[in-house]
Amino acid sequence: MSDVNDENSVLLAQLSEEAANCQSCSLSLTRNKVVFGEGNPNAPLVFVGEGPGQNEDATGRPFVGRAGALLDECMREHGITRNHVYICNVLKCRACIVENTRIRNRPPQSDELDSCRDWLHRQLTIIKPMVIVCLGAPAANSLIHKDFKMLKERGKWFDGSPYCRHIVAALHPAYILRQHGEEFETARHSLIDDIGAARMKVIQVKRETPSKLF
Ligand code: URA
Repeated sequence: MSDVNDENSVLLAQLSEEAANCQSCSLSLTRNKVVFGEGNPNAPLVFVGEGPGQNEDATGRPFVGRAGALLDECMREHGITRNHVYICNVLKCRACIVENTRIRNRPPQSDELDSCRDWLHRQLTIIKPMVIVCLGAPAANSLIHKDFKMLKERGKWFDGSPYCRHIVAALHPAYILRQHGEEFETARHSLIDDIGAARMKVIQVKRETPSKLF
């Protein structure tokens, strides 16, 4: 491991420790664990999802439920494993509501996203990825532009992010899991294609700046 990797690893560990005590919003009252993010601290490719669900809240790790299994499967189609990439979310704590004694995930609220923004900002500033893939609309709204239209704009590349050379949005694996039959297959393939395109972008950037390995 190079010094750059070591330095990023230490900085991310320090930031993660700080985030573990975050009380910036009321999600800190109901969370079990802060899900900071994990993976290669010097990853050229970062996936940013929406926020932790039940499994992530219980384990403190991102994308470990069914959506995570689908993401792993789609990455594997391109020979990508979690060791190659970094995975995190715009929201670091589970957003949920109690409904008839059942706890269910809910979309993040704008004040919660605002409270959490600085963690993601500092995280991405340390990693300095070449390419970011936003998984789902909340990540795309935060990192690409407001009112992102997922079905129209997914797979379209954007430049000018403060965090990376190229940024794109892909369908969220949890959305894909809610599709059935042919629609499921089409959506799954679109995620596989978007990950493949992200891999090619990394290769392209590497050719231009050959200092990061993938
Ligand atoms: N969905 C997300 O957006 N993030 C996770 O970590 C898990 C599910």
